[in-house]
Amino acid sequence: MTPPATITTTTTSILLLLFLTLFPSVTLQQQSDLDSDCTNRWIHIRHLPSRFNLDILTNCSATYHPFSDDFCPYISNHGLGTKTHNQSHSWFRTDPSLLELFFHRRMLEYPCLTADPSAADAIYLPYYAALDSLHYLYGPDYNSSSQHGLHLYNFLRYHDSPEIWLNNQGHDHFLVLAGSAWDFSQPLGNDPPLWGTSFLELPEFFNITTLTLESRAYSWQEQSIPYLTSFHPPNLALFDSWAKRVRRSRRTTLMLFAGGGGISSTPNVRRSIRLECDNSSKIENTTQKTNNQYSKFCEFVDCSNGICEHDPIKFMKPMLHSSFCLQPPGDTPTRRSTFDSILAGCIPVFFEELSARKQYGWHLPEDEYHEFSVMIPKEEVVFKGVKVLEILKGIPRSVTRKMRDKLIEMIPRIMYRKHGSSLGLRTKKDAFDIAIEGTLQRIKARLDDVADK
Ligand SMILES: *[C@@H]1O[C@H](CO)[C@@H](O)[C@H](O)[C@H]1NC(C)=O
Ligand SMILES: *[C@@H]1O[C@H](CO)[C@@H](O)[C@H](O)[C@H]1NC(C)=O
Ligand SMILES: *[C@@H]1O[C@H](CO)[C@@H](O)[C@H](O)[C@H]1NC(C)=O
Ligand SMILES: *[C@@H]1O[C@H](CO)[C@@H](O)[C@H](O)[C@H]1NC(C)=O
Ligand SMILES: *[C@@H]1O[C@H](CO)[C@@H](O)[C@H](O)[C@H]1NC(C)=O
Ligand SMILES: *[C@@H]1O[C@H](CO)[C@@H](O)[C@H](O)[C@H]1NC(C)=O
Repeated sequence: MTPPATITTTTTSILLLLFLTLFPSVTLQQQSDLDSDCTNRWIHIRHLPSRFNLDILTNCSATYHPFSDDFCPYISNHGLGTKTHNQSHSWFRTDPSLLELFFHRRMLEYPCLTADPSAADAIYLPYYAALDSLHYLYGPDYNSSSQHGLHLYNFLRYHDSPEIWLNNQGHDHFLVLAGSAWDFSQPLGNDPPLWGTSFLELPEFFNITTLTLESRAYSWQEQSIPYLTSFHPPNLALFDSWAKRVRRSRRTTLMLFAGGGGISSTPNVRRSIRLECDNSSKIENTTQKTNNQYSKFCEFVDCSNGICEHDPIKFMKPMLHSSFCLQPPGDTPTRRSTFDSILAGCIPVFFEELSARKQYGWHLPEDEYHEFSVMIPKEEVVFKGVKVLEILKGIPRSVTRKMRDKLIEMIPRIMYRKHGSSLGLRTKKDAFDIAIEGTLQRIKARLDDVADK
């Protein structure tokens, strides 16, 4: 549903006001943060003209194409969207593509900001890159998709204190691109493009660290960070009460798949899962079930056509009651649902390494996957008749309990706590904190590398 234009404009003006008034209060807060040592952690936020960020939000109702939704409803609460209910404090109707806005908001309360770019260890570009791609992907600028980002480069390099860029030739700059790298790596010279923009293919941006939701298999400039989920607690008590609920929740379903697809007749892992799930209800009345303590082997939550996207209750409840959550690849290898399932303590089952293990190394250490997830190669399922259900049934409850404890321990690392959250909750590193830590380390390594040459 599209809000009337006047309401949208009012919302946006309020939002702009909020942004403009943010800085002073944030500065006060950071001064009270006495125990934070900022050595090697200074970040400068580059001032960009509003056409690179806020104007893009103002244009949120420009629907270029039936497939590109009006994103105005998700802008509120600095990109977290509206609360799921009036009484809810931690749950929002969040759209992952608003990470660029939310990240910007969180950046403003980062404790080690400096106004002096030459004193900074890293330089953040508040450019809403994926939101700005919509008019290339779906709109009037389709035929110039290879230009996506060049206006930013020209601004940095030639118009606004060029020395800030030239100081380190861009190696110290970073930005967030809230999408899959595949959508932004259209080879140059494909005009009109087959799909996507060329943002990540432009040599102008090779030196910049880009935080994406999904990277290419062999990437140079991008690093994946977790999708925005719907859980954004403002304080420690609310976080703890969720963790307790996850720990105590009775898991009555063995495996769950929340998603769409799988209805085509060509062999693929979604289709295999769907068939197995349909099939499992037929054997449910046998004695096997009672031995296993599960009242259901498989649950399928139909999320086709994006019907679950802004309605977390649809999938979070079933996830809380399931032991395993299947994460088959779709159009691309990664899914937001991986992070939803971690939040729910539902053990993710992966079918390829690119779905998570080869992506989120900063947030979910590569060598710990066996402690909190299950890997079943998709080829074995699709072509060798391996049954997901049989494998999962064979995992004893004592093992799933251990894996769940590990998942619960990892929840803070993949969630984005609410902006302005309590100091108590800030003691837990969240997805944002870890992304910043990783970025600073990476930029340091880059700069050392360049200096060596
Ligand atoms: C906003 O939309 C108008 C009309 O489509 C367009 O001319 C303008 O460039 C857009 N601004 C931004 C910042 O995308
Ligand atoms: C939620 O809040 C809105 C605005 O304050 C109010 O109109 C609505 O009735 C409330 N809904 C419930 C269920 O309390
Ligand atoms: C892109 O170019 C093709 C021909 O090269 C043309 O048919 C099409 O209308 C153009 N699309 C837009 C959005 O301008
Ligand atoms: C990227 O860095 C290299 C040196 O590492 C430099 O030669 C090149 O000009 C830089 N690219 C841009 C666009 O600044
Ligand atoms: C469905 O169940 C039958 C009987 O238990 C089994 O032989 C068959 O392999 C199953 N098919 C799938 C796709 O799981
Ligand atoms: C399982 O048993 C119940 C009652 O005994 C019956 O209503 C249901 O249809 C059965 N389910 C299947 C899939 O056979």
